[in-house]
Amino acid sequence: MKSKILIIGACGQIGSELTFKLRELYGAENVIASDISYSNLDIVNSGIFEIVDAKNYASVKVCVEKYKIDTVYLMAAILSATGEKYPMKAWDLNMESLFHVLNLARAKFIKKVFWPSSIAVFGSTTPKEYTPQYTIMEPSTVYGITKQVGERWCEYYHNKYGVDVRSLRYPGIISWKTLPGGGTTDYAVEIYHKAITDGFYDCFLKEDTMLPMMFMDDAIKATVDIMATKKDNVKIRSSYNLAAISFTPKEVADSIKQHMPDFKMTYHPDYRQEIANSWPKSINDSYARQDWKWKHQFNLKDITQEMLFQLNKKYKASINESK
Ligand SMILES: NC(=O)c1ccc[n+]([C@@H]2O[C@H](COP(=O)([O-])OP(=O)(O)OC[C@H]3O[C@@H](n4cnc5c(N)ncnc54)[C@H](O)[C@@H]3O)[C@@H](O)[C@H]2O)c1
Repeated sequence: MKSKILIIGACGQIGSELTFKLRELYGAENVIASDISYSNLDIVNSGIFEIVDAKNYASVKVCVEKYKIDTVYLMAAILSATGEKYPMKAWDLNMESLFHVLNLARAKFIKKVFWPSSIAVFGSTTPKEYTPQYTIMEPSTVYGITKQVGERWCEYYHNKYGVDVRSLRYPGIISWKTLPGGGTTDYAVEIYHKAITDGFYDCFLKEDTMLPMMFMDDAIKATVDIMATKKDNVKIRSSYNLAAISFTPKEVADSIKQHMPDFKMTYHPDYRQEIANSWPKSINDSYARQDWKWKHQFNLKDITQEMLFQLNKKYKASINESK
C-alpha cells in the first residue's frame, strides 16, 4: 500500500517545493498539502489542499484521520529573524506543532515524522569552522532554542516511545519558486531578485559574513533521501548536520557580476548581523554522508546560473501576463 503523506506548512519556501516533489514521486492523490491559510495559490490549486492549524492538535488529527495519513512532514515554523520580533509566538508555534505531531505518532495515528531543525541550534560558543555533529550548542535566538529543544524531544520520543522521527539541520536554503519567510539567510535569495529587477542590492549582512547554504534541490533531495532510507540507517534521532557549500555576500555578488557586470551591492548590516555572527561558517556533515549516503550537487556557480535563469524567465512571464 502506498504511503499517505501530509505536509503541514506546505505554502512556505521549503514546504511548497517538497509538496511538488513528493507528488511527483508518490502520486498527487497520496500527498495532502496543508497550511494555516491559502497563501500560495500554486500549491492550493495543484492538488488536495486542507486548512490545518499546526498549533491545534484536533485540527491536525482530523486531517490525519480523514486521509488515513501515515507520514507527516512538519514544515510550519516561525524562522530566526521573525522569531526575534515575536519570541513567544515562535516558541508557541515551533514547540506546540512538534508535540502534536510527535504525540500523534506516539498514539500510532501516524508511523513516520519529518521535522526540520536548523544550523540555528548552534551559538557563539560552538566551533565555527567545520562544526561537528556533536559539539557545544548554546543558541542565542528564540528560533535556535526551539530547534535545540525540539531535537532533544525528537530523540526522546524515539528512545522512549519508538517514534520514527527523522530530522535535518538545514543550512540557509536558496530557491526561486517561493520567497523565504523571515530567516537570516534570506539575503541569498533576495539578492538574485533585486539583481534582476533593480540591478542593485542593499545587503543586511556584512560582505564577509560566511554562512552555510544549500540550493533548494539539494535540500529536497536530502529530505526525500532520509525519509526513504531504511529505519536502521537513521542512527541519529535528534537531527543530522547537513551541508553543501558556504559563502559570503561578497562572493554571491561576485558570482552575479560574472553574468551581470553592472550589478551593484551595498552593505547596511541590521539586527540580523548579530544572529549570523552566532552561527557556524561551515558544517561537518560526515554522519549524513556515511549513514544514508548524502551527497550535494550544487555549488555557488551552479546556483547563480540557475537562479538568474529561472528568475529572468519568471519576471518576463509576469510582464507578458500584465500586458
Ligand atoms: N528556509 C530556510 O532557509 C530554513 C533553514 C533552516 C531550517 N528551516 C526550517 O524548515 C522549515 C520550513 O521552513 P520554510 O523556510 O519553508 O518556512 P516558511 O516561513 O517559508 O513557511 C512556513 C509555513 O508555515 C505556515 N504556518 C505558519 N503558522 C502555521 C500554523 N499555525 N499552522 C500551519 N501552518 C502554519 C506558514 O503559512 C508558511 O507557509 C521550518 O521548520 C524552518 O525552521 C528553514
